[in-house]
Amino acid sequence: MKTDTPVTIRRGDYAPPAYLVDEVALEFRLDPAATLVRARLALRRNPAAAPDAPLRLDGEGLQLVEARLDGAVLPPDRCRIGEDGALTLLDPPAAGVLETLVRIAPESNTALSGLYTSGGNYYTQCEAEGFRRITFFPDRPDVMSRYEVTITADRTLCPVLLSNGNPAGSGLGDGNTHWARWVDPHPKPSYLFALVAGDLVNVADRFTTRSGREVALNIWVRRGDEDRCGHAMDSLKRSMAWDEQVFGLEYDLDVFNIAAVSDFNMGAMENKGLNVFNTKYVLASPESATDGDWQGIETVVAHEYFHNWTGNRVTCRDWFQLSLKEGLTVFRDQEFSADMGSRAVKRIRDVRGLRAAQFPEDAGPMAHPVRPDSYIEIDNFYTPTVYQKGAEVVRLIHTRIGPAAFRRGMDLYIARNDNQAVTIEDFVAAMQEASGIDLSAFMGWYDQAGTPELAAEDRYDPEARRYTLTLRQSTPPTPGQPAKRPLPIPVAMGLLGPDGAALPTRLAGENAAQSGTRTLLLEAAEQSFTFEDVPAPPVPSLLRSFSAPVRLQGVPREQLRFLAVHDSDPFVRWESGQQYAASVMLEMVAAAQRGEAPGFDPALAEAVANTLAAAEADPAFAAEALSLPGEGFLADQMAVADPVAIHRVRQGLRAEIGRRCGPALRAAYGSLAETGPYRIDGRSIGRRALRNACLGYLVAAGDAALAKAQFDAATNMTDSLAALSLLADAATPAREEALAAFHARWRGDALVLDKWFSIQAMADRPDAIEAMRQLYAHPDFDLRNPNRARALIGAFAAGNPAHFHAESGEGYRFLADAVIALDPINGSIAARLIGPLGQWRRQAPSRGALMRRELQRVLDTPNLSKGTFEKASKALL
Ligand code: TRP
Ligand code: ZN
Repeated sequence: MKTDTPVTIRRGDYAPPAYLVDEVALEFRLDPAATLVRARLALRRNPAAAPDAPLRLDGEGLQLVEARLDGAVLPPDRCRIGEDGALTLLDPPAAGVLETLVRIAPESNTALSGLYTSGGNYYTQCEAEGFRRITFFPDRPDVMSRYEVTITADRTLCPVLLSNGNPAGSGLGDGNTHWARWVDPHPKPSYLFALVAGDLVNVADRFTTRSGREVALNIWVRRGDEDRCGHAMDSLKRSMAWDEQVFGLEYDLDVFNIAAVSDFNMGAMENKGLNVFNTKYVLASPESATDGDWQGIETVVAHEYFHNWTGNRVTCRDWFQLSLKEGLTVFRDQEFSADMGSRAVKRIRDVRGLRAAQFPEDAGPMAHPVRPDSYIEIDNFYTPTVYQKGAEVVRLIHTRIGPAAFRRGMDLYIARNDNQAVTIEDFVAAMQEASGIDLSAFMGWYDQAGTPELAAEDRYDPEARRYTLTLRQSTPPTPGQPAKRPLPIPVAMGLLGPDGAALPTRLAGENAAQSGTRTLLLEAAEQSFTFEDVPAPPVPSLLRSFSAPVRLQGVPREQLRFLAVHDSDPFVRWESGQQYAASVMLEMVAAAQRGEAPGFDPALAEAVANTLAAAEADPAFAAEALSLPGEGFLADQMAVADPVAIHRVRQGLRAEIGRRCGPALRAAYGSLAETGPYRIDGRSIGRRALRNACLGYLVAAGDAALAKAQFDAATNMTDSLAALSLLADAATPAREEALAAFHARWRGDALVLDKWFSIQAMADRPDAIEAMRQLYAHPDFDLRNPNRARALIGAFAAGNPAHFHAESGEGYRFLADAVIALDPINGSIAARLIGPLGQWRRQAPSRGALMRRELQRVLDTPNLSKGTFEKASKALL
C-alpha cells in the first residue's frame, strides 16, 4: 500500500533477468502466526543480461531473520530491503548459494495470495506475483528452477503435507511434528509453486498413460466432502485421455494432486502436479449442484489439466504474454467440452459468454489488446479479453490453417519451446511454419483492442448469374488506440437458395464449385467476392460457427428470419433468431422511451411455437433458441443504454409470449418432466434446460404457483434453483416461504448458500436495494470469502442491471461502499467487483454522473490497493 501513484509496467521495457536460479531448496515450518521459510537458491549471473545488473530479489511483507551467501552470514551493509519489500544484494558474486530465512503469518493473509490459511489448513496461490509473499525470489516467469520442498508441521493438525512434483521422503520430526519432502524434476517458474497442508482426506484413483506410466490421482478435500468428488475425478481422467488422443500430450509425473479450498480468488490454479481449486469447481452432487455447475467442473478440471503442457512445460516469458497460456488453454478446454457433448450448443454458450463479458470490456475504459501494452496491477488483466478473446484468436488461426496444420503447429510449438519461457510470436511462428501460410497479419489480433464491426452488401446479376458479396470492416477506437487497422477475418459462409437449400459456391477464377461451408478471408477494409453460376438470388449465411469475434451488423430482418429456419449451420440458425429478437426488442425499447406502448411482433410467438415443435431432436439447442437475448446484450447495442426500459420490455415480452404460447409451453413442460431416475447426461441436461425455459415463460405470464409446485417437488438443484429464481421476482408469499425453506435446508452448505445469496441479489423487487443491505448484514454473509462476496455483490452489479442502475444512484453507492470495505481485505477481489461502475459512458448523463461520483469516492480512499486504483482511475479518464 502506497499513497504515491503506482508504477505502470510496460511491455516494451522487457529486459532479461539479471540472475538465473537453477535450483531451489525450500524448507517450511508451518505455523499460523509465524511460519518459517528457509530458501536456498543456486544463483548465477544470466549471460544474456547486462554484466553489472544488480541482484534484486522480489519480496513483499517478509520478515527477514537471516541471510547467508555461500554459508557466511551477510552483514547488513551487503544487503538492503527497499521500500517495495525487495531484497538487493550489494556487490553480488557471479554465482553462489543465497540462503534466506523469513517469517510470515499465513493466518493474517486475507488477500489469499502467497501462503494463507482457510479453515485451519494451509494453501498457497502464487500466480501472478504471490511467491514473493513467501520468500525472496526473482518472481518472474522467465526464471525457471528445479524445486525441492520440505514441509514440517504438527502431525495432528497437519497430517497431510503436499507440494509440487513427486513425493521424496517423509518422517517424524521434533516434538509432535512430521515432515515430507517433494521433488519436482521439471524446471518451473515461481508462479507454479504450491504447498497444501492440513487435515484433509483424499479420493484416490489412477490413470495409465498411453506409454504406460502409472499416475496416482488424488483429490484432497475436507472430511465429509469425499462423496462429492466423483465428477471432478471423472472429468480429470477424461481430460488426460483426450489430451493424449487429440494432441498427443501425456502427463509427466507419478502423481497428480488436486486440492479444493473454499477461500480462493479465482476458479482454479494449475500449479505443477498440485492443482488448487475453488471448491465450486470440485464438489458436486445431484442434490447440491446444478447442471451448469456440473459442466463448469468438467471445463475447469480440463482447463487446469491442459495447462500442464500449455503453460507449465511451455510457459510465458513475461505477464504481457498471459494469453499465450490462457487463450490457448481456453481454446483447448472448449474443444474438449465440444467433444464431450454437443459442439453446436457449446459454441453457442461460449459466444454468449464472449458477448456478455468481453464485448463490453472491449467497448469500455479497460479495453486492452489480447496482449496488453501496459499494466499497473497484473491481476487486473486476467480478463475476458485475455482468456476468451485470446481463445477466439487461437481459433482464428485454427480456422485459417485447418486442423491438421494446427496439430503439426502444436507439435512444433511444444518440441521447440519445451522447458522455456516464450512469447506469442513463438506460438504464431510455429503455426506459420507448420502450415506454410503467412500469419503475420494475425498478430494484429493480439495487439489491437476493440471489436471489429463487419457489414455485408450484395448484388445479384440474373443475366450473368453472378453474385457479388462485399464485406467491410472497421474497428471503433479504444483508449490509447485512436486509429485501427483492418485485421484478417476468416468468414465461414454458404449461400442458400430460395427454398433454403445450399447452393454450390464457385468464386470467379476457381475451376470447380465447392459444396457446404467455405471460408472467405477478408484482409482489407473492404473486399468483394464474386460467385459464378449462381442460379437464383441467394441468401448469404455469414460467420458460420462464429468464425471470428466480430459484430456482424445490418443483416436485414427477412434474411434473419429465413436463416433462423433454413440454415444448415446450427450456430447461424440460433444467431439469426437472437439477432431478429434483439432488433425487435430494441425497437420496443425505443417505443417505450417515447412513451408509446410497445407493439408485439407475432413472429416471435411463431418462432417459439416452431422451436417447441422441433425440440425433441435437440432439447439443449431448443433451450438456447428459446431464450431471448439477455439485457446486457441489448444494452451493449444501444448508443445510450436504458437498463430499466430494457428490463421492462424484456419482462413484458416474456409475459406476452407466455400468454400467447401458453398451451404449447404447458404441454412441453408436462412432457419434459423426468420419469425415470435422475440422470446427468447431455440429453437429460438439455431436457431440464428446455423445461425450465418453458417454466420461465409460464411464470412470466402469471403462473407463479407452477414455480412453487416445481420448487416443492424438486429432487435436483437445477430444477429447484430454476423455480426459486423465478419465485424471487414474484410478489407473493410463496417467495418468502421458498427462500426460507431453501435457507433452512442448505445453510450448512457454503456453495449452495452462495446461490441463495445470488438469486436474491438478482431479484427484481421494488425494495431491491434495501434487500441488498439486509443480505450484506446477514449473519451468513462474509466479505472475506471471495465466493460469498461475488455471490452477493458481483451478482447484483453484473446480474441485476435494472436495480444496479436505479435512478436514485443507490445501487452505485452500495457497490462503492462494498468495494471500499473489501479493498483493505482483498484488493484483487475489490478491483474485480468495481468493474460495472466503469461502464458509465454507456449510460445516460444523469446516471453517468452518479457513477463517476462513486468511482471518485473510491479513488479518494486512503491506502487504496494498486489494483483498485488502476480500475477506478482508468474508468474516470
Ligand atoms: N492460471 C489460473 C487459470 O487460468 C488463473 C488464476 C488462478 C489466477 N488463481 C489466480 C490468476 C490468482 C491470478 C490470481 O486457471
Ligand atoms: Zn488458465
